[in-house]
Amino acid sequence: MIGVFDSGLGGLTVLRALVARFPHLEFVYLGDHAHVPYGNRPSDEVVELTRRSVEALYKRGAKLVLLGCNTATAVAARRLQRVWLPHANWPGHNILGIVAPTVEAATQTPWAVTTPQYPQKYMTDIIAVFGTTRTVTSGVFHEEIRKRCPRMRVVQQASAGLAGAIEDEAPEAELDALVREAVDGILTQTDGEQPYRAILGCTHFPLVEHLFRRHLAPSTRILSQPEVVANSLEDYLERKPHYTDCANPGGLTLLTTGDADEISARARVFWPDVPAFEPTKT
Ligand code: DGL
Repeated sequence: MIGVFDSGLGGLTVLRALVARFPHLEFVYLGDHAHVPYGNRPSDEVVELTRRSVEALYKRGAKLVLLGCNTATAVAARRLQRVWLPHANWPGHNILGIVAPTVEAATQTPWAVTTPQYPQKYMTDIIAVFGTTRTVTSGVFHEEIRKRCPRMRVVQQASAGLAGAIEDEAPEAELDALVREAVDGILTQTDGEQPYRAILGCTHFPLVEHLFRRHLAPSTRILSQPEVVANSLEDYLERKPHYTDCANPGGLTLLTTGDADEISARARVFWPDVPAFEPTKT
């Protein structure tokens, strides 16, 4: 069984791609709606909330947990993988994040390769990264992309309110204004030059991809994070097939720390045939 975690509903964009790609695996999803959004919280709090959710998914039987959340990945993944997990009582369990596959796709460079290769050394594209405040201040996309492509210009823009507004089903006009503001923030930094590529570095943002599409130039390619994460997980599971063991192939359980009825109703707006959420605690 594979666990997928997000602060709220955003990770469903990733989960949906995984369920489509791996119909014979079993997934359990946890949305920490009691604490969403994470993006404006202090780092230590994000680490602790993420740890509790990962542990809740381990307790449900997931041996591998994918953080379907850029904020949790940017702030907590490394600390949990290197500091917490080796001393926690969860042998044979693991945690994966979603920044690595995104950086791999954006730079066309495997994660393990941390120096610029030819032709990456000479790539001078502008790449726009949209994310939560915490993801942007972590600098992880900037740092990891520039390690591999030092001439690429990485322009980041935090959108403090967008993930929360998507969770709260804010009216389209409000979402549109927030996306427009974020795109304008990028263009101010580039003096109007259009980015070659855009990373929607928050798993909530694909839910308003049409608005990003509206405000970005037609020439800007939006990288599909759910797609690249599915590709990367496929590769990982080929190397670690024991994580594909499951008692209930095709099974899908959705958990929330919030109000299960309310969250189920909201989730259906994004994914019409999604199963109902069950309440849980972390
Ligand atoms: N969906 C999450 C992300 O990818 C977090 C949104 C939030 O909780 O602020 O960053």
